[in-house]
Amino acid sequence: MYENIRRHSFMVARVADIILQGLHAASSAPAPPSRSLVVAGALMHDIAKTKCIREGCKHADIGRDMCRELGFETIGEIVANHVVLSEFNRKAYKEGYFSAIELVFYADKRVKHDQVVPLRERLEYIIDKYSNNEAIREDYIRKNFEQCQEVEHYLFTRLDFSPDEITSFLPDSPADLLHYLPER
Ligand SMILES: [Fe+2]
Repeated sequence: MYENIRRHSFMVARVADIILQGLHAASSAPAPPSRSLVVAGALMHDIAKTKCIREGCKHADIGRDMCRELGFETIGEIVANHVVLSEFNRKAYKEGYFSAIELVFYADKRVKHDQVVPLRERLEYIIDKYSNNEAIREDYIRKNFEQCQEVEHYLFTRLDFSPDEITSFLPDSPADLLHYLPER
């Protein structure tokens, strides 16, 4: 894995974890997903990205296949859904139900390289990088971000901090795996 993708993945895991802890703290959020699943899914979400940059393939799909082959079926579903949600369940989000899939999908959209940014900034970067100046592609990316904005909206109606405040929960230490050792 390229070092920059590794750093990105660690930061996505931190953001997903911060949101998860917020859901646990929010009395109105029903049954958040397990921490180990959220963190593992976030750390693994770009597992195939390096391979696909080199070989040209869909990294979400190939990443899911890699996880499946290793026996990590549930993590594979998180990986498969991290770019675009295969199921957008507004009713569940309104009721406060978020799975590890939505948390990783959202957290990934908040991290540009290894920096936490507003959704809008990540959207502009993705349009710039992946739309090839084609209107259809740009439209598709924008629609996906609109879904992400809705996820953000429903998530943060449950949390007692705002999307901009995520950065205030980040530790000063560099993003690395030590952060996730179980004794924490
Ligand atoms: Fe990705």
